[in-house]
Amino acid sequence: MSTRVALIGAGGHGQWHRRVLQRLSDEGRIEVAGFCDRQPVEPPDGVPFFTDHAELLRETKPQVVVICTPPHTHLPIALDVLDSGADLLLEKPPVMSSAEHDRLGAAVAGTGRIVQVGFQALGSAALAELCVAAPAGPIGVSGAWWRPDSYYLRAPWAGRRAIAGRPVLDGALVNPFAHALMQSLVVADGFRPALMELERYRSREIETDDTTFLRLTGEDGRQITAAVTLASQVFIAGEISVGDAVLEYPTDRLRLPGETTSREVPGRAGLLENLLDHRRDSGVPLIAPLDRTRTFTAVAEAVVAAPPPAPIPQSVLRPHPDGGGMVVTGIDELVQRVASTGRLPSECGITWAVDPHRVPIEKGVTHAQAQHR
Ligand SMILES: NC(=O)c1ccc[n+]([C@@H]2O[C@H](COP(=O)([O-])OP(=O)(O)OC[C@H]3O[C@@H](n4cnc5c(N)ncnc54)[C@H](O)[C@@H]3O)[C@@H](O)[C@H]2O)c1
Repeated sequence: MSTRVALIGAGGHGQWHRRVLQRLSDEGRIEVAGFCDRQPVEPPDGVPFFTDHAELLRETKPQVVVICTPPHTHLPIALDVLDSGADLLLEKPPVMSSAEHDRLGAAVAGTGRIVQVGFQALGSAALAELCVAAPAGPIGVSGAWWRPDSYYLRAPWAGRRAIAGRPVLDGALVNPFAHALMQSLVVADGFRPALMELERYRSREIETDDTTFLRLTGEDGRQITAAVTLASQVFIAGEISVGDAVLEYPTDRLRLPGETTSREVPGRAGLLENLLDHRRDSGVPLIAPLDRTRTFTAVAEAVVAAPPPAPIPQSVLRPHPDGGGMVVTGIDELVQRVASTGRLPSECGITWAVDPHRVPIEKGVTHAQAQHR
């Protein structure tokens, strides 16, 4: 019998989930139980639509629910889903804080339900191969993308730090580059962050950062340095480097120590498919169980709680040739330099750089997370 799956948050990124649901329904693996969204959304023929998630849960009794609403709405909806007896695929970032993470974790334990978090890059075969090779040394994460100013008009929480006094979660590293941060934490197997040093910048009139530099120092002294921007004319897909090894994470291209060129490692396991397999056979490990994301949540919470981003001066901005906003001159070289040296912009002689915000990080790795590895 096919599994009844519902989707809460069917607009925005939910359209990606709609395509996955359609494919799995065509394959006979699932039955789409219903859609829910606060805005009108056209569901496929025969699929009931609700504007209230509690009504959807009551009326359609799904066995699995996908939540794809804005991050600050996740926790109450997720708790209702678990209470209803359904398993959950919860979009990333799962929750807003370590306290929320604990609350959701307690509900998972109390209900015995399953939660998979929407970090689809953790299903990458290239990442798995890198983890098996387990190269030593500091980790660098870099990426240089371009998002026009209109990107920040796509959703009410985009580019914001709070709405109606409630914190929301956006920023280059915790949102578009969240997969890179999450992958680097997995590569650093057992990493227990002790100190966060953060320089966050904005190239435009937003509340949050579009250019972010982060250095995490672990209890054992190992460092992860991430340098990412959404204001670059030159595109760098994104790399995680560990010693001689490099993973180009969006494309799953990998170079291991001793290899001279990168090669594609095809294969990404789908998160919903993996959740369905795990429900059928608990011997199939979940790719992104909630516990595995605890350190990510602790770091993201510390990033969004940091002081507001510093504006990058107009003197180093110039219009993107395609229009739509400004780019930061030389930012592609800077993100690569910071990721490869582990030195933040303020330590690289960048004239517009500000002193890093330094905070101790709560110990992020739980017992259950350690067991997962
Ligand atoms: N895994 C990925 O690669 C990836 C990519 C993009 C977005 N996301 C995540 O997906 C989630 C949604 O992001 P988005 O950009 O689509 O946001 P969005 O603001 O566009 O919201 C998505 C939909 O949720 C609906 N919604 C809002 N509150 C609701 C509620 N209480 N009940 C029902 N529906 C509600 C909105 O009307 C909208 O249609 C976020 O957690 C985001 O981080 C993940």
